[in-house]
Amino acid sequence: MSLKKNSGQMELEETIRNPGFKDADDGGSAADTSSSGTGERRDSTAVKLDAAAEEYTQLKPYAGMPKEVLLLHSSRARYRVPREVLFWLVVCCTLALVAVTITIIALSPPCLRWWHITPVYQVYPRSFKDSDGDGVGDLKGIKEKLDHFLDLNIKAVWISPFYRSPMKDFGYDVEDFRDVDPLFGNMQDFEELLAEMHNKGLKLIMDFIPNHTSDRHRWFNLSRTRDPHYKDYYVWTDCDPASPKPNNWVSIFGNSSWTYDEVRGQCYLHQFLKEQPDLNLRNPDVVQEIIDLISFWLEKGVDGFRMDAVKHMLEAAHLRDEPQVDPDMPPELVTTEWDLYHDYTTSQVGLHDILREFRAVMDDYSREPGRYRFMVTESYDYEEVDKTMMYYGTPLVKESDFPFNFYLLDLPLNTSGWWAKHLVDLWMSNMPSGKWPNWVVGNHDRPRIGSSAGRMYVRAINLMLLTLPGTPTTYYGEEIGMENINITQSQVQDPAGKYNVSLSRDPERSPMQWNSEKNAGFNTQTNKTWLPLHPSYETVNVEVQKEDKGSVLSQYRFLNSLRQSELPFLRGWFCYVLSDTNVFSYLRELDGHKEAYLIVINFGKEFSTTDLSAVKELPYELRVLMSTNANNNQKVFQKSRIQTEAGEGLVIRYSTYTRYHPSHPAQCYVSEKACYLETVGVLYKC
Ligand code: GLC
Ligand code: MG
Repeated sequence: MSLKKNSGQMELEETIRNPGFKDADDGGSAADTSSSGTGERRDSTAVKLDAAAEEYTQLKPYAGMPKEVLLLHSSRARYRVPREVLFWLVVCCTLALVAVTITIIALSPPCLRWWHITPVYQVYPRSFKDSDGDGVGDLKGIKEKLDHFLDLNIKAVWISPFYRSPMKDFGYDVEDFRDVDPLFGNMQDFEELLAEMHNKGLKLIMDFIPNHTSDRHRWFNLSRTRDPHYKDYYVWTDCDPASPKPNNWVSIFGNSSWTYDEVRGQCYLHQFLKEQPDLNLRNPDVVQEIIDLISFWLEKGVDGFRMDAVKHMLEAAHLRDEPQVDPDMPPELVTTEWDLYHDYTTSQVGLHDILREFRAVMDDYSREPGRYRFMVTESYDYEEVDKTMMYYGTPLVKESDFPFNFYLLDLPLNTSGWWAKHLVDLWMSNMPSGKWPNWVVGNHDRPRIGSSAGRMYVRAINLMLLTLPGTPTTYYGEEIGMENINITQSQVQDPAGKYNVSLSRDPERSPMQWNSEKNAGFNTQTNKTWLPLHPSYETVNVEVQKEDKGSVLSQYRFLNSLRQSELPFLRGWFCYVLSDTNVFSYLRELDGHKEAYLIVINFGKEFSTTDLSAVKELPYELRVLMSTNANNNQKVFQKSRIQTEAGEGLVIRYSTYTRYHPSHPAQCYVSEKACYLETVGVLYKC
């Protein structure tokens, strides 16, 4: 190899050879490579290289260049400096990226889960849609109607029980928790329904009944025959067959909660019907059975459970009489749940530990992204709201995601602004901090609020439900303003109604009103419906209301979209502004977010003019974004004169950066503080 200088640059004269590989190139053997001769040759090459270093340094590096030459080049400042700069740049950028990522994670408020965002829609399967013409709704029927939920922008559907059941309490008396009742379909129908729901992005919440089974359940049969494994699966005690009342405990459906069983020769406890014996959840085998059942359905892919009647899960083992509300009442007249203080049959110590065990199982199935399994508990604790709050768990131990908030069911007791505020505040002021509220205005156990409060308040109630902080629950038909049906004694289906017709829950369970055709579209094949239709179905139905922009349905849809698209509703503060005889007013705002919302609802009985001039954070003029009376949409009010008719609700959107909550901390609430950076459109913890 030789190099020749040519006009200041070194050029290749012949084929370039790598000194390290010279022998091989020359056809030398491997042995040659190790010979001293080769060694000398190498040394001499090195010497030559040293000598010619100056010349080599002027050579441009190229691929295939000998290692030594390359090293020489690479140590020169013009290569080394950029390399080092690049290296440190990469290090700095990586560190900066890590720092930015950590900062973003640290500053981001926790993500909302699906059950925070969507309302929960309750389907009572007997009454939703009948696909086979037997007059009773079924799973295939629900599958046919899934687009209804998408139209409403609802993503979570709770279906009341459809397990195999003798239907004494319409499915809340379960004979086999691992099977579907033939009335509703079969397991394949269920699997198809679930798959289709998941395809459409819908979540399915099952009803689960841990307190009791049907008296036809296999466990009960084995228990009454004293099978060694099952004998303590239920709550048994000795009693006198002639007067089977080991104590004064009463059933929720009335009369003694004890029934004598001839097979076993003992009394068993049932806090509901005698066909619904209470499980003995003090027996760890029973708890394990329930865990297995929960796992069975989680394994199938269900997204959550509504846990039924949880406060009844444990009873005091001593079985002492409960204290009478009226101590002077003759004991034989003590027959209803209102006659006793339920010190020994509800909310017993240990109950929350059991629910936490259920929760832990659900958590095991919640690890995949987007597969969070949700749990809501049902417990009516009336004035003992603190008992309800315990189902939220503690900061360290999770329990239900929220216990149902039933307090708004009492709205009809006193339609007024301050009463609405009182009921809302019952929850807000008692809820443990950082928890997520929720609101229920109807279900299969309570008269429809459209009937008990009055039709004129239906829209206002939906407006409140969808603008309060937290998850709304909508019972089927509330989105169109369905009302109770009238039931005569001979039409009674509900066991509670057989005991006392005024307690019947049939009125709120009438078939869903889909259209103005035969059977309101509930059953299009025969003339059978298990309960009569509401006569209003020709005008109050989904199809008619979809076409009408001012309908209850269209307003529901609008409000639900607003709730899910506008950050102040999901992420912002909730502040009381005013409440009086007529009006309940509150606002929703988010720090850094220019748009805020003022809600003014007239729950009273007369027209009202509300003066909010003292609220300095509000602009002078307020424009109505939406009124439950569509004629008032876009109306502009001075803040000193906001007018509402009885039953009217307004959503007012206004722009300001002046927030209300800093100067009214006692009137404001937020689950998780977050601020909005408008320039980049991100939320951060603040
Ligand atoms: C729950 C259900 C109700 C049922 C009872 C007994 O309260 O909502 O419908 O009758 O439990 O299971
Ligand atoms: Mg019990």
